[in-house]
Amino acid sequence: AIDISKLRDQTGYVTLDIGYKNTGATKSAITFLDGEQGILKYRGYPIEELAEKSSFIEVAYLLIYGELPTADQLKAFQYELSRHTLVHEDMKKFFDGFPSKSHPMGQLSSLVSALSAFYPESLKPSQTTEELNQSIIKMLAKMATVVSWIYKKSLGHPVIYPQNKYDYVTNFLYMTFGQRTEEVTIDPVVIDAMNKLLILHADHEQNCSASTVRIVGSSDSNIYASVSAGISALWGPLHGGANQAVIEMLEKIKEDGGDTDKWIAKAKDKNDPFRLMGFGHRVYKNFDPRARIIKKACDDILEKLGINDEVLEIAKKLEEVALKDPYFVERKLYPNVDFYSGIIYRALGFPTDMFTVLFALGRLPGWIAQWKEMKENKEPIGRPRQIYVGATSKEYVDIAKR
Ligand code: ACO
Repeated sequence: AIDISKLRDQTGYVTLDIGYKNTGATKSAITFLDGEQGILKYRGYPIEELAEKSSFIEVAYLLIYGELPTADQLKAFQYELSRHTLVHEDMKKFFDGFPSKSHPMGQLSSLVSALSAFYPESLKPSQTTEELNQSIIKMLAKMATVVSWIYKKSLGHPVIYPQNKYDYVTNFLYMTFGQRTEEVTIDPVVIDAMNKLLILHADHEQNCSASTVRIVGSSDSNIYASVSAGISALWGPLHGGANQAVIEMLEKIKEDGGDTDKWIAKAKDKNDPFRLMGFGHRVYKNFDPRARIIKKACDDILEKLGINDEVLEIAKKLEEVALKDPYFVERKLYPNVDFYSGIIYRALGFPTDMFTVLFALGRLPGWIAQWKEMKENKEPIGRPRQIYVGATSKEYVDIAKR
């Protein structure tokens, strides 16, 4: 076997793997993923068990600190988080500056980056363990507030301040759906569903956004800048933006009369840029274990909330037809986690353009864990090489003669 570390400083040896389809960028002890067998584990625990038994904040602790918390550790973690949920009042001026219809993901990446201005201690390139931990707690705590305020802004409603009596997820739902004028009770079914969705999105090893967080952090950028970059990476429809794209696609199919065969044919047509959103995955070539959990959760939640969503029927039909079609079978294209997540978010009352922001809220512990691991491993600055294919030598022609 080749010892890659020995090749590190050698010049003239460059492997080319566009899109990093087969190239590892790091060693990681956070998430295990077997794409062939459809296995996903956080720190050794199967995703199925965590989604069933844990709360989101327990999973966040597991990802970031490496072990499931004891009851006391969880209480202390929750207490620390609740002490930092407020964001600086001046941050509200940023909200005022955005047009009310601007996309929540653009707002989120800007607002998270702006947090660095209010918490300048995070800018120190080498923080002590305690300082690093404080940055992590603040990042996690303030994200839920920022996300819910983005939602309130889109409605033109006043923001709701966090209440420390609530746990992380309940507080988030309270700030999102609560009113200043009356007491609200958040339905336990909704709290449970939100916990599950956030857990399923919490980490996914070296995906586009996590790799972005690591590479930005590797230049010693602060946690807010690194996470903001991850949010930008997540925004694209080939990554986190898929959850919004799925619902928009399903709506279109519904309006078009629900003819799934027609849309499957479009997805197969190589002259048509249309792709079946929510299908396919870079790593899962058998099935996405998160999609199985979410499909079942979707059925349960819609039933418990008494919602009959026509779009769910179209999604199921589309899945059924695609899974039998040789085009999808040969290319190993299966529904991914985002094929059903949007249907649940919609049932919980979120508008479509908030879906990717909710993905970001769920993915945050993963980004933080990846950023922390990268720092603890003292990884060198990320700096890919290239194969230059441009002109080798050109004679400069003065502008008047070009
Ligand atoms: N619909 C139709 N055809 C597809 C789809 C799709 N959703 N996905 C892949 N294909 C086809 C490609 O056209 C290609 O066909 P070809 O071999 O005839 O040229 C083949 O399957 C392989 O596709 P690639 O794009 O090379 O696969 P890659 O691993 O690079 O991409 C990706 C994976 C980006 C997820 C892709 O499957 C896709 O665009 N899916 C739709 C968007 C989506 O759902 N993204 C969410 C991903 S999960 C997440 O981020 C949480």
